Amino acid sequence: MSQDEIGPDNVKQTVVLAVDPVCPEAAAIRRAAAVLRNGGLVAFPTETVYGLGANALVECAVQGIFAAKDRPAYDPLIVHLAGREWLSDVAAGVPPLACELADRFWPGPLTLVLPRHARIPSVVTAGGPTVAVRVPAHPVALALIRAAGVPVAAPSANRFGRLSPTQAAHVLDDLDGRIDLVLDGGPTPVGVESTVLSLAAPVPTILRPGGISREALEAALGQVDVLERALLPDEGVSSPGTLTKHYAPRARLVLYRGGREGVLQAMDRAASQLVDEGERVGMLVADEDFAAFDGATVLLQSVGAAEDLADVARRLFASLRALDQAGVSVILVRDFGASGLGLAIRDRLVRAADGRVLEVEEPQA
Ligand code: TXA
Ligand code: MG
Repeated sequence: MSQDEIGPDNVKQTVVLAVDPVCPEAAAIRRAAAVLRNGGLVAFPTETVYGLGANALVECAVQGIFAAKDRPAYDPLIVHLAGREWLSDVAAGVPPLACELADRFWPGPLTLVLPRHARIPSVVTAGGPTVAVRVPAHPVALALIRAAGVPVAAPSANRFGRLSPTQAAHVLDDLDGRIDLVLDGGPTPVGVESTVLSLAAPVPTILRPGGISREALEAALGQVDVLERALLPDEGVSSPGTLTKHYAPRARLVLYRGGREGVLQAMDRAASQLVDEGERVGMLVADEDFAAFDGATVLLQSVGAAEDLADVARRLFASLRALDQAGVSVILVRDFGASGLGLAIRDRLVRAADGRVLEVEEPQA
C-alpha cells in the first residue's frame, strides 16, 4: 500500500474512548466492535502493546491496516482470537504441540505460526502458507474480539518501523486521523510484543523473542532455537518484523554490550565526547547505573531497575519516545543480558540501533 492512499481527502476523525482496563464498559466495547464489523480500524490495548485491529476475514479491511501504518505488504499480520476454541477457524490443522502450547500459554504473549486456513485472506499472511495466531491476555482485547465475533488481524499500532505504542497517546502520535477509533485502556502491562514461535522446523524456533521467555518455552518443549537472522539468504524474509532498523526512535541509538563496569565507563566517555561535538545526548539508564553518569551533561531517562527486567520491558518503548520528544540526537543504552525478558529487550534495542552495537572490552584492573 502506498503512503498517498491516505491523503487530505480521506483523513478520518479518530474517536478516543476511555475504558476500564479490568472491566471494560460494555457500551464502548459494543461501539468499537461495530466499527470492526463494518470494516473499520480500531486500536486497542493488549497485554504487550497496543494493536491496530481489523476484521481478519475481510480483505479490504485488512488492507486498511497496511495503508494506515505505511506497512509493506510483505510483512504478515498476527490474527487475534478471543479463545483457543476459535483456532480451527483460522488454522488448517493444529498439531498436538500447538494445542499443548495454547493450553499452557494462552491467553498470553505467545504467537504460534500455523498452517493457514483457506478462509483467511492472503493479505493477512503476506501471501504465505502460514498464519500467526494468538489469544491476548487483556480484558479489553478479549472483550472487543468476542463482541466483534470475528478473528482480528492486528499489528502493533504504530507507523511501520517505528517504536511500538504502550499507551493510547503513542497510538495517536502515529495514527491520529488515519484510524477510526482508539480504546484507551491505559498503559500496557508487558511492554514488549509477543514471542513469535514457529513449529515448522524439527526444533521449535523463536522468530521474534517477546513476552514469553525462551526459558519458559524450553521448560514446556525441551530445546528451543532462536532465529538469529530474519533474512535467510535463500529463503527470503521469514519473519519480516525481525528485520533490522525496526522499533526505532528518531534519534540514532547506540547499544553497548559487555561487562557492566566497562560498558558504563565507555558510555560515560562517549557521552562527553558527543556533547563536545555538539550532539544532544540522551541516555536510557537503569536505576542502579545513574551514579556512573554523575557529572555528564546529558539527559538521563530512567528505564527502571535492571534487576527487574519486567519493569525495563514495560518502560522501554515509552522511555525511548520520551527521549525523542526531548529532542536528543543520540541515545546511548546498555544491554540487559539475554535471560528472561532480556532477550526481547536486546532484540528491540539491536533493531533500533540499526547496526550501531559496540562490544566493550573489560577495563584493565
Ligand atoms: O504482541 C504482539 O505480537 C502485538 C500485539 C498487538 O498483539 N502485535 C505485533 O504485531 O507485534 P506486528 O505486526 O507488529 O508484529 C508481528 C510479527 C512480525 O515480526 C511478523 O513478521 C511476524 O509477526 N509474523 C506474522 N505472521 C507471520 C507468519 N505467518 N510467519 C512468520 N512470521 C509472522
Ligand atoms: Mg510491530
